Amino acid sequence: MRGACACAVVCALVALCAARLDESARAAAEKQLLALLGLPRRPPPRARPPPVPRALRVLYDSRALPAAAANTARSFHHTPTPLDERFPGDHRFRLFFNVSGVPADEVARGADLSFQRAVGTTGRQRLLLYDVVRPGRRGHSEPILRLLDSVPLRPGEGIVNADALGAARRWLKEPKHNHGLLVRVLEEDAASVSRDAKFPHVRVRRRVTDEEEEWRTAQPLLMLYTEDERARASRETSERLTRSKRAAQRRGHRAHHRRKEAREICQRRPLFVDFADVGWSDWIVAPHGYDAYYCQGDCPFPLPDHLNGTNHAIVQTLVNSVNPATVPKACCVPTQLSSISMLYMDEVNNVVLKNYQDMMVVGCGCR
Ligand SMILES: *[C@@H]1O[C@H](CO)[C@@H](O)[C@H](O)[C@H]1NC(C)=O
Ligand SMILES: *[C@@H]1O[C@H](CO)[C@@H](O)[C@H](O)[C@H]1NC(C)=O
Repeated sequence: MRGACACAVVCALVALCAARLDESARAAAEKQLLALLGLPRRPPPRARPPPVPRALRVLYDSRALPAAAANTARSFHHTPTPLDERFPGDHRFRLFFNVSGVPADEVARGADLSFQRAVGTTGRQRLLLYDVVRPGRRGHSEPILRLLDSVPLRPGEGIVNADALGAARRWLKEPKHNHGLLVRVLEEDAASVSRDAKFPHVRVRRRVTDEEEEWRTAQPLLMLYTEDERARASRETSERLTRSKRAAQRRGHRAHHRRKEAREICQRRPLFVDFADVGWSDWIVAPHGYDAYYCQGDCPFPLPDHLNGTNHAIVQTLVNSVNPATVPKACCVPTQLSSISMLYMDEVNNVVLKNYQDMMVVGCGCR
């Protein structure tokens, strides 16, 4: 009866957990699951889990991504380049973030650049953030800059954020044309003549006197939020479903059936997937495992309301009760699933935070 029932991620995990799987079946299950998770291959094993960037850990604990529709978060720091020497001052710097490891199917949904405060500054300043669309060539051409954000800086505590989404979107589409971001900090005085800030309120670059350790926490941080192909497809499907469900409710079509209790009726059952058991604890940084649940049980005739049957399942169950040889009963499958968050290593050993949809069964039903 359950043989024909389809399932996705949870089934692949269940298959991996089954101890009796032979090597080739196990490899096939792992391949399928990696594809579902959007990974080309298993990240290389590591002896020790890598340090998780603080910003990612905070996001993981908060269980929500700040950018709408995003299901993935990565953090980046400036990659030092020989060009850095052309920007000796503290008020103007080119930041380069190497986002080349982001898979091609991901679309940028948010990009927040955050700066730490410098101590002991006064007065009014303004931070300007530009996308370097085309770098200048000495003695030949001026650079082409596009203003991304303009942030007023007042003396005070706390992190300063600027929006770099316009640039991040472009970098993911045309990786060859990532020429970095230009940051400028200007004085804002009454005469409204903008001068370079001598003592910027925020730290845009490393000073020669900065210790490595000190700079690590003070340097600008880019949080990039993306949505991958699978998440986009499933969001669009669920938006369509919500629309058609509302339409169906308006039409008031709802079949009614009597309740009848049975012992092995379709319901959600416990299943804990331990990533150590499937040999993945070396690249899944957190969680160690999770409650996936599964659906199992009979879909009896007449189909009770609480079994979340579709009109089609009701009809199929009816036909089966009349003539069991023609069609099987409806299947007990997940009807509502929820997502979980995972911190994992990508192929170049960066820690990535992703929300994976449809990983945990919330409700079962007959379909
Ligand atoms: C960006 O990182 C990739 C590996 O992650 C490396 O191959 C590439 O050279 C880097 N690009 C720059 C401009 O640093
Ligand atoms: C039917 O769906 C609802 C909501 O998703 C859920 O609470 C309920 O447990 C489901 N029924 C069964 C039998 O799982």
